[in-house]
Amino acid sequence: MTLPERREAIWRTPDVVVIGAGAAGLMAAFTAARRGSRVVVLDHAPEPGRKILISGGGRCNFTNRDVKPECFLSQNRHFARSALSRYTPADFLALLATHKIPWHEKKLGQLFCDNSASDIVKMLLAECDAAGVRLLTDVRVADVSRAEAFRVRTSAGEFTSAALVVATGGLSIPKLGASGFGYDVARHFGLPVITPEPALVPLVFGAGTESWVKELAGVSLPVKASCGKVAFEEALLFTHRGLSGPALLQISSYWQVGQPVRLDLLPGQDSGRLLAEVKASKGKMRGPAVLSRWFPQRLAQELARQYAPDRPVVEWADKTIRALAEHIHRLDMHPTGTEGFAKAEVTRGGVDTRALSSKTMEAQQVPGLYFIGEAVDVTGWLGGYNFQWAWASGHAAGEAV
Ligand code: FDA
Repeated sequence: MTLPERREAIWRTPDVVVIGAGAAGLMAAFTAARRGSRVVVLDHAPEPGRKILISGGGRCNFTNRDVKPECFLSQNRHFARSALSRYTPADFLALLATHKIPWHEKKLGQLFCDNSASDIVKMLLAECDAAGVRLLTDVRVADVSRAEAFRVRTSAGEFTSAALVVATGGLSIPKLGASGFGYDVARHFGLPVITPEPALVPLVFGAGTESWVKELAGVSLPVKASCGKVAFEEALLFTHRGLSGPALLQISSYWQVGQPVRLDLLPGQDSGRLLAEVKASKGKMRGPAVLSRWFPQRLAQELARQYAPDRPVVEWADKTIRALAEHIHRLDMHPTGTEGFAKAEVTRGGVDTRALSSKTMEAQQVPGLYFIGEAVDVTGWLGGYNFQWAWASGHAAGEAV
């Protein structure tokens, strides 16, 4: 065997194979390699970190100042706590500082790159490079099996390793290379998978239901959107198919088919009192003019059409004002579905955390097998939480392999 052949052969039997060169996989790879492990990362996409590149409108909302376990959904509510506490937003900011990457804070503690999301990908790749990680893109993984070690058969040949880290993400945005591979590996090794569903996703109305909504496409306003006991106060956007905007995307992660989404269109205000004041002072105005004091014109017209009498406000009975106020603060919408994985920012559900160690992300029944990032049943709120979970879970696995 020649020297180059021997070198190549060494890479066929690394200590760790990571499948998926996204946020979580790259973090796990360089964390493990820094500790001395020989790490190979495989990805079927032509380039690593594609979701990072498109995230946050191209500026990557890479974390949030206020990361709490309550900001994550999972069937096992406490699972994320351990990893999140051992790799915090401050740790990620320290990493950015060593690479001199400028960033800024937007609303609600959301932290973004000043320049471009590509700063984050370059940083992760530089860390992998410095730690000696071998990254192979455009590689199809055919299957994974296990005897004494894990055997990964790919279009670039076979790899054997003592540890296998699955970081293949969720099903959102298939055109960027999303696949259910991680779930398949989990099932293959007997791990349960919570049904993956689109989350942080616009909701839609079927034909013939709430058809007035599409007439308002493009209208946006601050609301409080709630579903059951969960509520978010943020912007709502009417679309041609239904509802979107941050408040609605957040609620979509909690929404189940058949549940109403309740909108408070004037959160924190007493619209009954406001309407009574208008009645007292500008008695001749009609519904659209009255309501356009608080709402965009088209929404004001629609609310007036549905809920206000076609008479000057001075003639509105107190009972009518109370009913209108009730609609303004408790408008129940009945979405029939979501825009699906093609438009979902993330996937809720995934590898059941009850089968994993919360400290290391290792499968309890399959030593050496790890699941991290979005492939796992941990879903963050909008606002940098999903990347923080990717960094934290990737770091936890990288420290443990
Ligand atoms: P990720 O999806 O990043 O990586 C998985 C990798 O595995 C990919 O490189 C993929 O090609 C590879 N792969 C998949 N199947 C494979 C297979 N069979 N074989 C080999 N490789 C395979 N979050 C946030 O916190 N802030 C934000 O600003 C945004 N913005 C945002 C915008 C948009 C449009 C989307 C779609 C998503 C976001 N997110 C976000 C969510 C965030 O991008 C997401 O949660 C993380 O990228 C998840 O990181 P992972 O590493 O787990 O998966």
